[in-house]
Amino acid sequence: MQNQLDIPEHLISRLSTVATLSIMAAGDFLKKSFGQDLKVQSKEGKHNLVTEYDHKVEEMIISSIKKAFPDHIFLGEESGESGSNPQAIKWIIDPIDGTVNFAHNVPVFAISIAATFHNETLCAVCLDPMRGELFSAEKGQGAYLNGKPLKVTSTDLLSNSFLATGFPYNSAENPLSCINHFTHFAKMGIPIRRLGSAVLDLAYLAAGRYDGFWEVSLNPWDFAAGKLLVEEAGGKITNFELETLKLEAPSPIIASNCLIHDQIYSTLKESM
Ligand code: IPD
Ligand code: CA
Ligand code: CA
Repeated sequence: MQNQLDIPEHLISRLSTVATLSIMAAGDFLKKSFGQDLKVQSKEGKHNLVTEYDHKVEEMIISSIKKAFPDHIFLGEESGESGSNPQAIKWIIDPIDGTVNFAHNVPVFAISIAATFHNETLCAVCLDPMRGELFSAEKGQGAYLNGKPLKVTSTDLLSNSFLATGFPYNSAENPLSCINHFTHFAKMGIPIRRLGSAVLDLAYLAAGRYDGFWEVSLNPWDFAAGKLLVEEAGGKITNFELETLKLEAPSPIIASNCLIHDQIYSTLKESM
């Protein structure tokens, strides 16, 4: 059977197998590296950190995927774009999502890998190596945690919801009103978590741990895998205009169990 993109399901299943093998090897390496001495550098802005492990994990993943699929192209957070064939499958990789946690020995971070084609994520894997939680999805086949099917919550009132969010590294400048949004939700008395890994936020939403999530700007490597996890678990993910996400540019994100999507949207509009 073929999907709307005419990508055969057996190819998606092979992409998923290769992604899973790559992420498990990278996760073993990252778990062993956790708590070791680190060389930490700042990228743009003093709080936007990168370690030698971000680079190493990204290299490991790209080289193992290239062995299986030499013609595919890549967008990695640390190495950028490689390859430009618009007809090729593009892998979007965040080697450590939650680098600030990792660099401070806080065991909350994940590896994120998405195989994409023409603005659609075909398969997604997200591994929390410290907890051994592997979230995975293939388009049209559901989302899973360690093989167990996932479903979003059925909470239908924002006031009863448990939410997650994240902030850009320049949050002190209140870009895109990020602080106003946070205080607006907080003043409604809604419990809000900020774990520091957007892909885990989206995976937890897919797993029914959170009801909703927003962030004013995420990069494609932060959301390409989480988008499919949320959608395949029955949730919804859009930008702040309720439009479909584009995988090639940074974007504001609202993700939810569907039922509270419009309520998150209205609350964000009130605090613009
Ligand atoms: C960051 C995390 C964080 C989010 C930031 C991202 P990084 O990614 O996902 O939760 O709030 O916007 O940049 O830098 O750890 O890969
Ligand atoms: Ca990230
Ligand atoms: Ca990262």
